[in-house]
Amino acid sequence: MMKNSYQFPADFEWGAATAAYQIEGAYNEDGRGMSTWDTFSRLPGRTLNGDTGNVACDHYHRTEQDIALMKQLGLKHYRFSIAWPRILPNGEGEVNQAGIDFYSKLVDDLLAAGIEPLITLFHWDLPQALQDKYGGWKSRKVAELFAEYADIVTKALGDRVKRWSTINEIMCFTNMAHKTEQHAPGGKETDQVANQTVHHAMIGHGLAVQAIRNNVPDAIVGIVECLFAPWPLHNTESHLDAARKAFKDRNAQILFPLLTGEYDEVAYQREFGDLPEYSAEDMKIISEPLDYIGYNFYNHPPVRPSDKPWGFDIVDMPEAYPRTDMGWPITPDAMYWLLKFSQEFFGDLPIYITENGMAAADKVERDGTVQDMDRIEFLRTHLRACQRAISEGVPLKGYYVWSLFDNFEWAFGYDKRFGIIRVEYDTQQRIIKESGHYYSAVMAENAVL
Ligand code: NOJ
Repeated sequence: MMKNSYQFPADFEWGAATAAYQIEGAYNEDGRGMSTWDTFSRLPGRTLNGDTGNVACDHYHRTEQDIALMKQLGLKHYRFSIAWPRILPNGEGEVNQAGIDFYSKLVDDLLAAGIEPLITLFHWDLPQALQDKYGGWKSRKVAELFAEYADIVTKALGDRVKRWSTINEIMCFTNMAHKTEQHAPGGKETDQVANQTVHHAMIGHGLAVQAIRNNVPDAIVGIVECLFAPWPLHNTESHLDAARKAFKDRNAQILFPLLTGEYDEVAYQREFGDLPEYSAEDMKIISEPLDYIGYNFYNHPPVRPSDKPWGFDIVDMPEAYPRTDMGWPITPDAMYWLLKFSQEFFGDLPIYITENGMAAADKVERDGTVQDMDRIEFLRTHLRACQRAISEGVPLKGYYVWSLFDNFEWAFGYDKRFGIIRVEYDTQQRIIKESGHYYSAVMAENAVL
């Protein structure tokens, strides 16, 4: 057989990712409180077809069957999130033991199946009570309460779970929630107010890192970001330089402050408007040292040089450019450049791709299979970008496909399917798609196939 030249390092970590509100269902069982997504998805016109996470993939009742599927795929790492309102129905105060028990058993069952958990503490399902009482992330108090919640969870699970991430994609429940109303809780705030929520979320992250380290001395702690990952339209020095500038300026709000402890005020104001109120002490908390940075990568536009003072132009993608079912352009090179720029700016800080994948208009064939060739090709080209970056010395340690299952895609409801396993929502039947079989072989061979 021809030797596959796209081999990964022996210790590369292969996984798949999900999030609580997108798969669990059981929204009102065993003492779970309401979240802002429960509320938001019930508002008229907020989600496609008025879909909610009430049932989702019913994972809450099917963890054993779902872990058996993970095992069948040969998965060794699984990223999932904990629903804050299952642990603290009011976001603070009384702990719901049934919530702890659910996740504790999940962890035990995963470990028994040889699957290492990576837990995200917050994937957008804020307890509604904290929204009502404090205005959610608009208040610094919620950042402190997030650290208390992190303390409770890591005390309960930290004896068995080593891999932690504090928050998933700050941008989505701050700016995209408070300015453009695509995400819960919704609202139209000024730049300053929205930017302050971003700042509070970063403080919450830093305080949670401290809590995790207190309780789990050998923890591997990071955060998961959806950053702006521009790539050079031409692979020339001047285009590369423009892409580098765009990488720095367009990530001046979250990624750079998290990793450097500083706001670049000029870039911030130009790209995001008024700065939040902040102190030197805040910046220390925000930039608590991390063990890794997690990137969720989907798509990004190219840039070219410009004679504007900031030196770059973002290039509009043509309508006819190849896209996923979300309408997102397919840009594997952007993933390569993200990995390269991350190393250039942040040195040897380990990187994980904590999400990557595509929505496709899958269908079940007469023989009961799902032949999602488009998803296979998407995975193949993106994994090649990863392998290329690793072969050039980028410290990429692992890759989690988004998603293990078709699930509740937020404002797009159940219409968009990202899974390598199909879920028939009427019957809750699971079908491993062709891409699932492909990914299984990739993991087994430790190579892009
Ligand atoms: C990133 C989010 O973390 C995840 O929840 C979402 O489903 C995917 N992007 C796809 O949009």
